[in-house]
Amino acid sequence: MKKYVAAIDIGTSGSKAIILDDKAAVVASATEEYPLHSPRPSWNEQDPADWWQGACDSLKKAIQKAGVSPNDIGALGLSGQMHGLVPLDKDGNVIRRAYLWNDSRCDKQCRDVIEKLGGLDKLLGYTNNNLLPGYQGGKIIWLREEEPQNYERMAKALLPKDYLRYMLTGEYATEVSDASGTGFFDVKKRAWSEELIKKLDLPMSLFPKAFESDHITGKITARAAELTGLAEGTPVVGGGGDAVIQTTGMGIIKDGVLGVILGTSGNVTMGMSKYQDNKGGTLQFFCNNASDLYHVMGVQLAGGGSYQWYRNTLCQEEIRQAKELGVDPYELMNKAAASSPAGSKRVLYLPYLSGERCPYSDPNLRAAFIGLSQGYTKAEITRSVMEGVTYGLRQIGDAMLAIAPVSMSHIIVSGGGGSSPLWRQIISDIFQLPVKKLAGGEEGGAYGAGLVAGIGIGLWKNLAEACSNVKVATVDEPNNANKAIYDEMFGIYNDMYKTLKPIYDRLAAG
Ligand code: XUL
Repeated sequence: MKKYVAAIDIGTSGSKAIILDDKAAVVASATEEYPLHSPRPSWNEQDPADWWQGACDSLKKAIQKAGVSPNDIGALGLSGQMHGLVPLDKDGNVIRRAYLWNDSRCDKQCRDVIEKLGGLDKLLGYTNNNLLPGYQGGKIIWLREEEPQNYERMAKALLPKDYLRYMLTGEYATEVSDASGTGFFDVKKRAWSEELIKKLDLPMSLFPKAFESDHITGKITARAAELTGLAEGTPVVGGGGDAVIQTTGMGIIKDGVLGVILGTSGNVTMGMSKYQDNKGGTLQFFCNNASDLYHVMGVQLAGGGSYQWYRNTLCQEEIRQAKELGVDPYELMNKAAASSPAGSKRVLYLPYLSGERCPYSDPNLRAAFIGLSQGYTKAEITRSVMEGVTYGLRQIGDAMLAIAPVSMSHIIVSGGGGSSPLWRQIISDIFQLPVKKLAGGEEGGAYGAGLVAGIGIGLWKNLAEACSNVKVATVDEPNNANKAIYDEMFGIYNDMYKTLKPIYDRLAAG
């Protein structure tokens, strides 16, 4: 039995490759960044060639850093940002830049599909999911209507990590967790909804074969071996959409524990041991990474991304100082935020930089600071970004408990935002639950993809055995003294949407 597995995550800010040993410990990790193109508000695109370059470079670096022989790496697991459309022509060439999970240009097309089908309940009958503008399905219809010359050339519609799979193995394939996020997948049957696809006059041939997440879907080609440093013939295992497989990597495979993932998006996630109707379609109800499990989540489009945008746009001074001091600018921002009282002296931040998906699916929403006053400083403003994002997460948590009323023992956080002790305390205080952070939590989707790849080649028997390797690093307990102010501010946050909705619609009309 080979002793190592490799995994790669194609995220929105960059790609991350890791090598795990047979105890699921991270032996090496390497990242490469690539650009995001935002040609209009709510339009977000990336070039698949950048993903491929990032994947090759980060894999090569991780293997070198680990100092292991490629022949000792038993499998590669894949994770990636979900939902984006990579349109390929009949020869496998990319037709246009991919448009992504946080791109809502196809809002109209999604609404048209629901109307054509006779309402949301009809659609939920096919897929158990709303057709959200982030999903791949509406993007395909947008291409047909808005760029017919590109649509005519499209022979395959791939998801981001499955484009990588194609470049690595030459196979067109996906797996059930990511396919669930196209909006055209029958989650209950764990298969494409052929009936729905036919109703929308789309050819079935556009969609790749869907495997279970832990099945082997192909092998590394000679050319990919040369570019990535992996050995030719290494099996490539299905893997998963990042939000799902990252939850798996956090050891959350059944209900009772909430996951909070603060990457570019902000996700509240949970494993489900059985299928359940997704009433109202507010949440995302997907296939999980084991054939008998499901997954439920709600996604805020600018979670960690709000803090990153705030750093890049309004914290130039902190960036300059951090450079001088040789520290990360986030350290200085976190320090300022920690000097403000809980509740940020009643400043509220609304995290709608890319519109929003959950609990409101609305591309017209925009971000805002409300409640600023003379004498207020960066301290309140910075902390309000962390708090505003977290109020949005609590709204999703509440929606989740409404469809799956289980008692929650604790939250597990991961993603860049989860590495800030202050932000973890804010999450704990706003949810009034203990917050745990895991060792290796910063490896994101790649870690879960490594576990699932190991299962694929028999290194671990199943998810329960693989996840027994996941260790808790820190626990933050809720501070009762902050409960009253956070409950009050959360109440005000909750009223913001309906109060500001007419204003947002007027702003969007221009
Ligand atoms: C999940 C989702 C995001 C992206 C970001 O539904 O849209 O988590 O996958 O990586």
